[in-house]
Amino acid sequence: MDAWQDLLCQQATAARERAYCPYSHFAVGAALLCKSGRIYTGCNIESAAYSPSICAERTAFAKAVSEGEREFTAIAIVGGKQGEPCKELCPPCGVCRQVMMEFCDPETFLILLATENNEYKKYTLSKLLPFGFGPANL
Ligand code: THU
Repeated sequence: MDAWQDLLCQQATAARERAYCPYSHFAVGAALLCKSGRIYTGCNIESAAYSPSICAERTAFAKAVSEGEREFTAIAIVGGKQGEPCKELCPPCGVCRQVMMEFCDPETFLILLATENNEYKKYTLSKLLPFGFGPANL
């Protein structure tokens, strides 16, 4: 993994510490790199009513887009049982993949999944959301 990708995974791991997940006890962190060079982090934020819960990835996108960012290079994601180091890769849910499709080029946007054992995988969005529906379809 390149140094900047490693840094992005470290930021996702730090953001994971801030997860609010009293119902699932599954803590997720994300770090989103914008083409501007800025990085926005996110964690999952759950709700007693369940459905208002938001994933770490969409928290990061909401923070970035609401600050005026529209172009993105990559997102790092780490997730696992709260209070334990991440041992398994945490793939993004379908809703988060669709939000990525809204703002990112599926052929070039990189999704980095990492564990705290330095295991990692890299995917393009088109690999994780093949034949996705996005702004270009309208
Ligand atoms: N979650 C994320 O934040 N991102 C993912 O990629 C998968 C799932 C959250 C949602 C919920 O708070 C918890 O993990 C268990 O599903």
